[in-house]
Amino acid sequence: MKPARKAPAAASPEDLSIGPASPGDMRQIIRLDAQTTANAKPKYWHRRFEACQANPSEQFFLVAKRGGALLGFIVGEIRAWEFGSPPCGWVFAIAVDPEARLESIGSSLFQAICDRFRAAGVAKVRTMIARDHQLILSFFRSQGMMGGPFVELEMELDE
Ligand SMILES: CC(C)(COP(=O)(O)OP(=O)(O)OC[C@H]1O[C@@H](n2cnc3c(N)ncnc32)[C@H](O)[C@@H]1OP(=O)(O)O)[C@@H](O)C(=O)NCCC(=O)NCCS
Repeated sequence: MKPARKAPAAASPEDLSIGPASPGDMRQIIRLDAQTTANAKPKYWHRRFEACQANPSEQFFLVAKRGGALLGFIVGEIRAWEFGSPPCGWVFAIAVDPEARLESIGSSLFQAICDRFRAAGVAKVRTMIARDHQLILSFFRSQGMMGGPFVELEMELDE
């Protein structure tokens, strides 16, 4: 069952700022991701950050902060013609500090990256989630995301 929506504790939602991640945010991003996924992957996040720095018109790494504290992040990029699809925005990852959830921070991050996709000229956003990840599924459905026309296929490769 979904926990009750919390009243913002420390400050009002207007105090939330969303903008590009900076090098000084990486430690908190890596920690929040490790806490969320139970899998620390600092090299991956540093590489992802550097890629966004190198191509800021198509790759986005945004953080939400309140009073200087990092409360969440979202990462995505525009991809063109993969699987025959016209350019569209892909969201790779989103996480909000467990202590700050249900205060619309996730929604604000998602809207912020959608604004950047729109400004870059694409008209569709996609993501991929694990079938059994109910929380992330509920979240993306709440944003208006629905099943798309593609099906993921995979198999084990023999050694
Ligand atoms: C998913 C997540 C980003 C949502 O962030 P959030 O700031 O709490 O989300 P919001 O407050 O904007 O909630 C928006 C909507 O999402 C849905 N939602 C959020 N938390 C939910 C929960 N615990 N259960 C069911 N639905 C939920 C609701 O529909 C909610 O709207 P409502 O409260 O008006 O019904 C956050 O829970 C999170 O970081 N989870 C872990 C993410 C993760 O595993 N990431 C790794 C894979 S990408």
